[in-house]
Amino acid sequence: MIRILMVCLGNICRSPLAHGVMQSKLPEDHFYVDSAGTAAYHIGNSPDKRSIAVAKNNGLDISTQSARKFNVSDFDTFDYIYVMDQSNYSDIISLSRNANDTKKVKLFLDINTSIQNKNMPDPYYGDHSDFEYVYNLINETCDILAKQLNQD
Ligand code: 4NP
Repeated sequence: MIRILMVCLGNICRSPLAHGVMQSKLPEDHFYVDSAGTAAYHIGNSPDKRSIAVAKNNGLDISTQSARKFNVSDFDTFDYIYVMDQSNYSDIISLSRNANDTKKVKLFLDINTSIQNKNMPDPYYGDHSDFEYVYNLINETCDILAKQLNQD
């Protein structure tokens, strides 16, 4: 079983989408996908209703997800920890205990060589079109990652 964790700040906008999209592209008998936030603001909340809506428009139900905060034990549980932006990267790396933890943490958009800006934009203060943009970028990047993982 390969375990993948998607991380953003609040765990209500970007990482729940990355969690749902990635899960939908991988066989569940070989892959476990989850998401978490670096901040505690939204613990226990459902994803943002705009993330739920854009996922639903693309045939995915993420409404049952519940926000949680990243925990140091996630370094033990997960093989890959994908962070949405540089700020998330710094926050997670600051919690790493050793080189093995550190090497699990990767910028999600580093997977996508067609994208120059490696920070997934935060749509929280944006509108529906910002959520659509983020969904499409996540979907495209998850396709690349799924192809890579299925080849390993
Ligand atoms: P996310 O977006 O990190 O993609 O879940 C945000 C959600 C909430 C807040 C900021 C970003 N907030 O400040 O509450």
